[in-house]
Amino acid sequence: MATNILKVSNLKVAYGGIQAVKGINLEVNEGELVTLIGANGAGKTTTLKAITGTLPQCKVEGEMHYLGEHTKGLTSFNLVKQKLAMVPEGRGVFTRMSIQENLLMGAYTRDDKAGIAADIDKWFGVFPRLKERAAQMAGTLSGGEQQMLAMARALMSHPKLLLLDEPSMGLSPIMVEKIFEVIRTVSAQGITILLVEQNAKLALEAAHRAYVMDSGLVTMSGNAKDMLDDPKVKAAYLGE
Ligand SMILES: Nc1ncnc2c1ncn2[C@@H]1O[C@H](COP(=O)(O)OP(=O)(O)O)[C@@H](O)[C@H]1O
Ligand SMILES: [Mg+2]
Repeated sequence: MATNILKVSNLKVAYGGIQAVKGINLEVNEGELVTLIGANGAGKTTTLKAITGTLPQCKVEGEMHYLGEHTKGLTSFNLVKQKLAMVPEGRGVFTRMSIQENLLMGAYTRDDKAGIAADIDKWFGVFPRLKERAAQMAGTLSGGEQQMLAMARALMSHPKLLLLDEPSMGLSPIMVEKIFEVIRTVSAQGITILLVEQNAKLALEAAHRAYVMDSGLVTMSGNAKDMLDDPKVKAAYLGE
């Protein structure tokens, strides 16, 4: 049986009077690439923030289990220590640090120097653009390169679950293709990923399973490839 990494049950989130997430269920199993797609404002980012425990001012209801443990009472710091990594919308790289330094920051919860150096080499292999620019300040990178750096930095923590919030947002079509190529490569290495995307076509093509979110609710879920052929998904999300 598949090992459950994340299980979200009846999650509800309200910002003051605005109910942004209205009771959703989702799960991610070990080794899966699961995508959560939906229009702008559907509640995708709010869901990821609830998972990482970074919505302190909001009313969050429901149950969450990460690695089989109830997350109630865990701080976002605890979750990072337990290898939950998130690349937020807008990336958040340290612009005034070099690429190499950003990657070292990603490994701050580790103390195995040799392993860290080996991992930097490994991810430079997957992200050759970063290797060529290792000593450059992160702020001088293009948007797509910063997205790659944010992903590589998150991977330096050896995540058991990697959350990606709209990695393709604001990038050129060629860069979007490259980012998805990298997501597939990372997934093929066995890393479990929950990918939030507005680019439904590429996300469904890359993912094993998918959830569709609309106005705070999960309206569909299932095998990602089946969804690519679903007339409702085609009409609403694929522009076909
Ligand atoms: N900090 C906030 N305060 C109030 N409302 C918010 C806040 N963040 C998001 N919302 C609202 O919650 C809803 C879901 O937003 P969000 O989770 O960002 O959607 P998505 O990531 O799918 O675009 C939207 O209606 C948005 O306006
Ligand atoms: Mg969002």
